[in-house]
Amino acid sequence: MKIAVLTSGGDSAGMNAAVRAVVKMGILRGCETWVVREGYEGLVKGNTKAPDTHNYSTTQGNPINLPESLKDDTLVRNLRFGDGPLLRDGEGDTSDASHSLKGRYIIRVGWDDVRGWMGEGGTFIGTARSTTFRTTEGRLAAARNLIKEGIDALVVCGGDGSLTGADKFRSEWPDHVKTLRANGDIGDEEVEKYGHLKIVGLVGSIDNDMALTDMTIGAPTALHRICEAIDNINTTAASHSRAFVVEVMGRHCGWLALVAGISSGADFIFIPERPPSGDSWEEEMCATIKAHRNVGKRKTIVIVAEGAHDKNLNPIRADDVKKVLAENLGLDTRVTTLGHVQRGGRPCAWDRILPTLQGVEAVEVLLTATQDTPSYVIGISENKVTRVPLMEAVLKTQEAAKAIGEKDFEKAMSLRDSEFGE
Ligand code: F6P
Repeated sequence: MKIAVLTSGGDSAGMNAAVRAVVKMGILRGCETWVVREGYEGLVKGNTKAPDTHNYSTTQGNPINLPESLKDDTLVRNLRFGDGPLLRDGEGDTSDASHSLKGRYIIRVGWDDVRGWMGEGGTFIGTARSTTFRTTEGRLAAARNLIKEGIDALVVCGGDGSLTGADKFRSEWPDHVKTLRANGDIGDEEVEKYGHLKIVGLVGSIDNDMALTDMTIGAPTALHRICEAIDNINTTAASHSRAFVVEVMGRHCGWLALVAGISSGADFIFIPERPPSGDSWEEEMCATIKAHRNVGKRKTIVIVAEGAHDKNLNPIRADDVKKVLAENLGLDTRVTTLGHVQRGGRPCAWDRILPTLQGVEAVEVLLTATQDTPSYVIGISENKVTRVPLMEAVLKTQEAAKAIGEKDFEKAMSLRDSEFGE
């Protein structure tokens, strides 16, 4: 089997560990392994240039006795992605322009290519929003590019929009093969050989917003970042006896806000799933904070999920909260929007363990996949790695979003869909 792995959607800490796990497990199970740069965009662009050959063996320095077939000197060693840190000092001739990956988006990789990826943040293979993959022509080009490289299995690590894209791609695959045959792009042998595409999803998102899995890759690290930030805010807040309104990410999901609030002892938390139930969130919040101040608290922390709203679905923004704290309680208040600090940086231990276990399982799923098995997404439930039918997870996620009353559900969904090529 030839497995390609790509990352899509907003990046999250642990994506590199996921790619590493898929590559290493794939090799151990006798597969050829490939990475696709820049998410679905790379699939659509494919390779317009022949691979560079050089003298490095991807097995170099690897203590494991790999199959002879993989001792191949044509693989790209220590991939060089733009400014990525993948070529380390003394390892390979970085000055040689022929090592550039320009014109190559689908790249065969070996064991050592992913060495050292476990603890690195972001995604070395890149992620992009692809409008072209959202079109039938784009997906047809993606199918052509995969078949050209002989790839028959795909691992997608991304959010629900990206995974929906993967499932759609798989379901359309036989039509793409037919069209490619009709256009003369492929022959009968390939039609026979590439009858169906095996796909599996890994959920990479800091939002922890996917149904049927307890945790998504990157959410624990983002949570750590928020907690650290609030710890830092706490000291200055206490010094000045100030209130801070901290806005956190999560899109339409309040998990980050809720759990960060619990782990930092926040005074009040706004999440989309459970808006304040009374007629006035302002009164409810002020009563709670006043009570805390009355028992001697010198500082106030209010966490606002970016998707928070009141019970009538009107958005609640950090600045609205600040205004109320200042005007109704007379508190000297500041707003801190944590932004992308939450998404960046090295993965915490759990964001190395989770993608590793799930990447291993993803390869096992592909090895047993048939035309009739559903597309799976790898989850974790009660500390056990699970396989869940991908579309069931996506549909349940959407139902949950509807149930919490996303104000503009269709718009929210199209935002998610735009992840197709992120
Ligand atoms: O889905 C991950 C996420 O970080 C959300 O929490 C946030 O709303 C969004 O992505 C931000 O996206 P961008 O990086 O495109 O600004």
